[in-house]
Amino acid sequence: MKTIQILDKEFALSIPECEIQSAIDAVAKQINRDLAGKNPLFLSILNGAFMYTADLMKRIEIPCQISFIKMASYASTKSTGRVTELIGLDQNLLGRTVVVVEDIVDSGLTMKEVVELLKAKGAAEVRVSTLLFKPNALKYDVPLHYVALRIPNDFIVGYGLDYDGYGRNTRDIYSLVK
Ligand code: IMP
Ligand code: MG
Repeated sequence: MKTIQILDKEFALSIPECEIQSAIDAVAKQINRDLAGKNPLFLSILNGAFMYTADLMKRIEIPCQISFIKMASYASTKSTGRVTELIGLDQNLLGRTVVVVEDIVDSGLTMKEVVELLKAKGAAEVRVSTLLFKPNALKYDVPLHYVALRIPNDFIVGYGLDYDGYGRNTRDIYSLVK
């Protein structure tokens, strides 16, 4: 079993690159089909979603725009239960179909706040595309339209996801060894 060390913790290989990429293929196909003619604005949530956003967008073949916002709800490996908007939006959302591109939905708090924020800014329709979803951690009611991979309630890193800012730069996803 391949393991990596990040700061004080050990992580074991959990989702290999090929599995991530084929899950993204499936989501992109669905989005290309569903949102044709809707001129969607893809809104990527930094930092975690940067790799997923790049790989997803390479497969989107319909006319669309891409923008980025930065939110934060995590300190270390536990949710702080608080979400802050760090970098605001510079796009007019009035009447737009917005697709939020997120790395992972855990409690769902971040996504709930993002969706509310975008609707308040006039988005006609908000769809959520998340690379990863922890169904057993969900505490808030959020619509998840495009889920690439469902995972158990473990803390993971890699492919954009971090442990205290480290570990984002891997092709595979690793899970905390307890
Ligand atoms: P939520 O608001 O509880 O759904 O948490 C979502 C955010 O927490 C995500 O955007 C991630 O940045 C972060 N997060 C949740 N679970 C993990 C994990 O297992 N590893 C790294 N970051 C995570
Ligand atoms: Mg994130």
